[in-house]
Amino acid sequence: MKHVPIIPASEITPREIYQGRREFIKVAGLGAIAGAAMLSGMSFDAAAAQSPRRKIGKFVKTPYGSDEKLTPYEDITTYNNFYEFGTNKSDPSQYAGSLVTRPWTVNIEGEVKRPKSIAIDDIFKLAPLEERIYRMRCVEGWSMVIPWVGFPLADLIKWAEPTGNAKYIEFITLDNQQMMPGQRSGVLDWPYNEGLRLDEAMHPLTILAVGLYGEVLPNQNGAPLRLVVPWKYGFKGIKSIVKIRFTEKMPVSSWMKAGPSEYGFYSNVNPNVDHPRWSQATERRIGEGLFARRRKTLMFNGYAEQVGQMYAGMDLKKYF
Ligand code: MTE
Repeated sequence: MKHVPIIPASEITPREIYQGRREFIKVAGLGAIAGAAMLSGMSFDAAAAQSPRRKIGKFVKTPYGSDEKLTPYEDITTYNNFYEFGTNKSDPSQYAGSLVTRPWTVNIEGEVKRPKSIAIDDIFKLAPLEERIYRMRCVEGWSMVIPWVGFPLADLIKWAEPTGNAKYIEFITLDNQQMMPGQRSGVLDWPYNEGLRLDEAMHPLTILAVGLYGEVLPNQNGAPLRLVVPWKYGFKGIKSIVKIRFTEKMPVSSWMKAGPSEYGFYSNVNPNVDHPRWSQATERRIGEGLFARRRKTLMFNGYAEQVGQMYAGMDLKKYF
């Protein structure tokens, strides 16, 4: 078994301490980018990624929402997990500038009537874009509330025309060491892959995201296309997808290979099933400050009413 790289929640640098360090770097004025960033009001990390912020022309608001306070844009885009750019939370925003997202093609293969390739800009035409405000819960014990812009994965699945044998979908990230230098390390089995059961993939809450806060997805958040499944731990939300494969057998994800006893196929948020190395009962909401009380984690991340039925009768300790 490989070394398991996700570190216990208790050992993760709290956002505010890490933020403090960055403030220090900014104040110390280290480097031209930091200086320019200070002048423009941007953070050091956001400036370093050098991806201009672009508004998405048209999207609709939907009933899917949350009355919770949104996590600030700055936190969502500088506190990331994207191991293709390093394992520190600040690595993706600093280094994901090397990812080129145009041209970008997504290949659809496996149990489909005909394999297909689709250019990213044509994917945008498959369905109207919608804003979905979702609570996101990372397996490490922190959470955010993110206003995604995307469309139901179900729309792409219908367009892909899976055969009757398709029971699962596997998603695969770009495999390119030049654009994703973290793939030179052996921290995970590259390219990053993930999977869903077909009914989970077809569920109306499951989306493919192309943006957040009304703007095109920053590279560090998985541009140009990433999966968002709000009732599952964040690592199921695979970024920068280039391949979608329909299969008869359950796919084995990068995380399942890295730590089979720690990361299961389902990975539904469940406060009653602890990670073998830490409790999943509570979470820290990013942006609330160091001394805020931890929140109670909700079954299926609070989406039990919508998704619980898909797991009726299943032993969720066994199928974690
Ligand atoms: N996708 C790829 N390709 N590589 C990754 O390392 N990290 C996952 C997931 N998708 C990851 C990925 C993990 S562990 C989490 S918590 C979320 O992305 C984080 O998404 P965010 O940085 O947009 O909050």
